[in-house]
Amino acid sequence: MLKLAPSVLSCSFANVKKAVDEVDSLGLEYLHLDVMDGCFVPEITFGAKLVKDIRRYTDMTFDCHLMTVRPEDKIDAFIEAGADIITIHQEATVHLHRVLQRIKATGIKCGISIVPSTPVSAIMPLLEMADLVLVMTVNPGYGGQKLIQSCLDKVVELKEIREREDYSYLISVDGGVNLTTIQDVATAGADLAVTGSAFFGAEDKDAFIREMNRLIGECV
Ligand code: DX5
Ligand code: ZN
Repeated sequence: MLKLAPSVLSCSFANVKKAVDEVDSLGLEYLHLDVMDGCFVPEITFGAKLVKDIRRYTDMTFDCHLMTVRPEDKIDAFIEAGADIITIHQEATVHLHRVLQRIKATGIKCGISIVPSTPVSAIMPLLEMADLVLVMTVNPGYGGQKLIQSCLDKVVELKEIREREDYSYLISVDGGVNLTTIQDVATAGADLAVTGSAFFGAEDKDAFIREMNRLIGECV
């Protein structure tokens, strides 16, 4: 069943620890951490120090989404900080295969992300080694954008490839996931869905997660 991964991008940075505790107390397995460098995307969020600082308070799976140029220069710090999954962008480095190999060699999981304008065919040779494929359903850089429906076709495509080739990656969807779009994401066949503004904007987060899970359950 599709699992939800709240993104700390949308919490108050004045109180990240409170947000982490909130997600943890709901029993959720994944925490999505959006790293923005002001170059690959216009905004700057945080680096490995924040990941390291919150690592000591939770055992949740840290799904670090690096929206940075030259991820090869940054992965060591995130591995050292305690990331469980490091996802890098196909568009951010020439030597994607080498960076993924380096991440895997340390024993943690590696993910590949594609922006809306990148087709699945661009990462075809790498799918064999991927633990996760992150399909961006908005152009990366900001929370609170509208999900681009056509990107969900890539989820269907990735699911078909995984079955045909007997690959094992998880398919994650990132951008514009909320109560209105979650059923389309579930029906497309995603395993994970990142939720930023919808989750942190919800007054009652427990009720929000229960409602999201109910909607997901209807799609099974
Ligand atoms: C956007 C980030 C997302 C973001 C999603 O560039 O990668 O993870 O937090 O936020 P929402 O759910 O508000 O679209
Ligand atoms: Zn993200």
